[in-house]
Amino acid sequence: PALLGLTALAAYLLGSVPFGIVMARLFGLGDLRKIGSGNIGATNVLRTGNKLAAFLTLVLDAGKGGIAVLVARATLGEDAAQVAGFAAFLGHCYPVFLGFRGGKGVATFLGTLLALAWPVGLAACATWAAVAAVTRISSLSALVAAALSPVWAFLLGRGDAVLLLVLLAVLILLRHEANIRRLVAGTEPRIGRKS
Ligand code: G3P
Repeated sequence: PALLGLTALAAYLLGSVPFGIVMARLFGLGDLRKIGSGNIGATNVLRTGNKLAAFLTLVLDAGKGGIAVLVARATLGEDAAQVAGFAAFLGHCYPVFLGFRGGKGVATFLGTLLALAWPVGLAACATWAAVAAVTRISSLSALVAAALSPVWAFLLGRGDAVLLLVLLAVLILLRHEANIRRLVAGTEPRIGRKS
């Protein structure tokens, strides 16, 4: 249990690293929290117009979830992998380095899921991409992908991951409160457009 706690703490700290803010600084794009939605994720980095910075943010924010899962699995097994993935996700959404005001968890969710159960992760990525292709709205794509992920897990024989995915989907929904309000009002911006 002590080792599991330590793993969860390490995963949380790794998840807390806000790569969007780091990339925005590295690329000289300014303070991400004063741009567009103010969110620290790849979608908002893209609003600066810098596609490379946005891509790196996506990969690194996803990667921190994936790495947490893979390291925990290799050292402590499958249950620890789920705990570590969840901890990394919490780190991204509630990071200790940003006064617990973090992101919406979508990239970290996808990276975690790809490492935890890659067929389910691929199905979630495909869902995101399909909704994005049709609507060009990042938040809506994330909400649909997150909501359907427990269903994909069940259908793909990963019943063991359903509970975690329901929990993550609920948290992602909560993190998108402002987006949902804009979606309902019809004012949510399309991918890549400023503000
Ligand atoms: O990944 C976060 C996305 O779902 C919404 O980001 O910046 O449009 O609020 P944003």
